[in-house]
Amino acid sequence: MMSEMFIPKSYRRLKRGPQVILPKDIGMVLTYTGVDRNSVCVDAGTGSGWLAVSLARVCKEVYSYDTRDEFTKIAEKNKANERLDNLTLKKGDVTKSIKEKGVDLVTLDMPNAEKAVNNAHKALKPGGYIFGYLPHMEQVRKFTAALERKKFADIVVLESIVRDMLVREQGMRPSTKGVWHTAYLVFAQKA
Ligand SMILES: C[S@@+](CC[C@H](N)C(=O)[O-])C[C@H]1O[C@@H](n2cnc3c(N)ncnc32)[C@H](O)[C@@H]1O
Repeated sequence: MMSEMFIPKSYRRLKRGPQVILPKDIGMVLTYTGVDRNSVCVDAGTGSGWLAVSLARVCKEVYSYDTRDEFTKIAEKNKANERLDNLTLKKGDVTKSIKEKGVDLVTLDMPNAEKAVNNAHKALKPGGYIFGYLPHMEQVRKFTAALERKKFADIVVLESIVRDMLVREQGMRPSTKGVWHTAYLVFAQKA
């Protein structure tokens, strides 16, 4: 339902498959984890690469994993169009392994994200962040339980609701259309 929410130009030009993380939520990932030009990130699944591209625009290096080639092809196009040499797209299942170690952030936007928590924990440096993007409360419960088992600190669960405003002569008000729920955003830090 992209047309029902304002999407900035830097995202309108990106190609997309069925489901992407929208700019309103991407902004939260960047600000709540505080990643910067020195940060190394692991992302899964790549999908259309909207989050991976956003991280690569800001960070030093991004390694993005997906199990399926058809989505990675869209992400390859976005990577090439945006000229992001610091983004590496990898085929792989993060519930089985994450090669990178000592990273600043692991982002998980995939079904069964809780199954990747152990590998994310191994990949992260102390103080590094894990981020889960989870459409359903039941997934949040499983994910936070997995975080608790690995003794992640400062677990925060958020939802970002952004309303477009109509700016018109007859009166300004919130649009009656809009994107309401996308997913819950879960953040935590490796102790
Ligand atoms: C909703 S899409 C990700 C969208 C992406 N974050 C974006 O902003 O464009 C979910 C992706 O996770 C991938 N996936 C599912 N399980 C996975 C796993 N165990 N390891 C890596 N990728 C996985 C799927 O193939 C799919 O492409």
